[in-house]
This record gives sequence, C-alpha cells and structure tokens, in this order.
Amino acid sequence: MESSDLKKIIQGIPKAELHMHLEGSLEPELMFEIAGRNDITLEYDSIELLKEAYSFNNLQEFLDIYYTGAQVLIHEQDFFDLTWAYLTKVHSQNVVHVEVFFDPQTHTDRGIGFDVVINGIHRALEKAKTELHISYKLIMSYLRHLSEEAALQTLESSIPFKHWIDGVGLDSSERSNPPSKFVNVFEASAKHGYKLVAHAGEEGPASYIWEALDLLKVVRIDHGNRCLDDDALFQRIVEQKIPLTLCPLSNVALKVIDKMEDHPVATMLDKGIIATIHSDDPAYFGGYMNENYYETAKALNLTMNQLMQLAVNAFEASWLSQEAKEKQIDKVRNYFNLIS
Ligand code: HPA
Ligand code: ZN
Repeated sequence: MESSDLKKIIQGIPKAELHMHLEGSLEPELMFEIAGRNDITLEYDSIELLKEAYSFNNLQEFLDIYYTGAQVLIHEQDFFDLTWAYLTKVHSQNVVHVEVFFDPQTHTDRGIGFDVVINGIHRALEKAKTELHISYKLIMSYLRHLSEEAALQTLESSIPFKHWIDGVGLDSSERSNPPSKFVNVFEASAKHGYKLVAHAGEEGPASYIWEALDLLKVVRIDHGNRCLDDDALFQRIVEQKIPLTLCPLSNVALKVIDKMEDHPVATMLDKGIIATIHSDDPAYFGGYMNENYYETAKALNLTMNQLMQLAVNAFEASWLSQEAKEKQIDKVRNYFNLIS
C-alpha cells in the first residue's frame, strides 16, 4: 500500500489515547514561548539546539531533559496552554477520547501549588469536551524515583480535587524503583476511589509487572513490553484481559527496542493480549497518535484487521462507560467496513 493511503486510513480511525504524559507534550516552540513570558532562560539558545538535544540512550537521559523542560510551567495559564495545545493537536488526528497523565510532584517540588497545576489542566480538558467533543479521564502519576512518603503527601494534596481525577499511575525512573515500593500509597489511592495503573516492564524486568499486578493491583500496565520474557506472566495477562498501553516511537527513542521492526505489538495481538498504541511523550519522541500508528503499521506490515483491533482495544481498555465503549467500538468497526 502507498504510504499516503495508509496515512489516510489511520487519520480516519476514531482513536483513544490512554498513555500520554501532558508534560511530555510540551513542544519546543511552546516551551520557548512560556519561558519568555515567565522570564526563564533556557539552557539552549534556540529551538533548533534544544531539538538537537533530543537524542537519548535510555529512559533516564530522556527524563533529565523532560523534567528540565517542565520547569517553564509556572502559572495556571501555562498548564492550560500545554493541555490545550495537546488536545487541539490530537483532535486534528481524530482522537476522540483521552486518558492523560500529569506529574504533580514535578511542579509541587518547585513550589507550584497543586491547585495551580490541576486548575489549568482541568480547564483545558473541559474546554475540549465542550468545543472538540473529546471525552477524557485524568490520571495523577506518582514519581517512582521519589519516596512513598512523598507520594502519600501528593495523594493528600489531591483529595480536594478528587472529583476531577480518575486514577493514579506510577512513572519516572523504573530501574531500582520497583512497584513494591508503593504498596501503601496505591492501597490508599484505591480507598479514595482512584483507579490504578503503573508503568512496568519498560526498562524494568518482568517481575515488576508481576508486582504491579499482585501488589499494586493495577487494572492496566503502561508499556509492559517485558511480559514476553515470562510465559506464565503473558498467559495471565491474556486470561485476565489486562490491557498493555504500548508506545512504539517511545520504545525506539529510548532504546527499549533497537528498531521499529522489532516491536512486539504484532506478536502480542497474535497471542490475544489487549495491546494498544499511544504516544507517551509526543513532543520528545517524534510523533503523536497517527505517527505511532503509521510507523508501527509500516514496520510490522500490520493488516487492516490488526489496525482495527488496536483501535478497538484502546476503547475496550479505556475507562469509558460500557455504553460509551460500545458506541465508539461500533464506530471503529463501521469505519473499517466502509473502507474495506
Ligand atoms: N517512562 C517512565 N516515566 C515517564 C515516561 C516514560 O516513558 N514519560 C514520562 N515519564
Ligand atoms: Zn509513559
């Protein structure tokens, strides 16, 4: 198939994004604009020099730059602009439902109020719901390189806003920060009604996926690439229908895999895993949802059925109501019927 035809097909698929860090959608242009109005001098003299720094050998090298970039975000309007820019971009790609992460500790540790962060984000999400008809859920992520005590304090700070937050996640440096470090805060988060997810098996071993399931009791695994190392684990993931939110361009950019042709998503679909595709940190990894679908489909020669399955899986794995899920899944199936 011509690449332009494949791109057109992907553009038309109604899509759900379930693994995207808002701070990771801060495009260099917006970073410079916000830095300018907040009187912050960036380490890089130009957008071009900043972009040149976006070359990573592992997760940590990325995180160092990602946390530095996020320091330009100070006022409620900054968090609004960040979120709104992401939402208008994915709206143009026919993304109709998003479940996005934010990292409150990246900001509260710099003296920014939890309220400042969430008010800006929430206002943009509500505007997108009304004006762009994008439905959404919001996930607060704990930084795993910090202590469980710090995560518990973050949980406390979130309580006045808990009607705006649907779930909690676990991100940042995976190696040496196993899920077992966060058992108490996940248990407490569940008591407050938050749904639970965690990054596991991106750089960390399959045993971290076991821990996320058994100790943290998460309902989805973010990444989870390493589950293929462990037969008993992937059988459990299939049997219990635990979705994996995969991020192909991120995996290549952070050298979790050598090249896109090695991505495990097709194998996972074959084995019956509810695998889904997302952008993780689109401003840093070279693409939003369409680019992730396109690069994966091209490298792995995905069939129309596999593409449809990926789109269906994302709605299946989402936190939409059963009725809303079925409505969106029907739309995906109708779309593929129409073009076949
Ligand atoms: N992995 C872990 N933590 C993160 C990521 C990621 O890909 N992006 C933002 N925080
Ligand atoms: Zn992520």
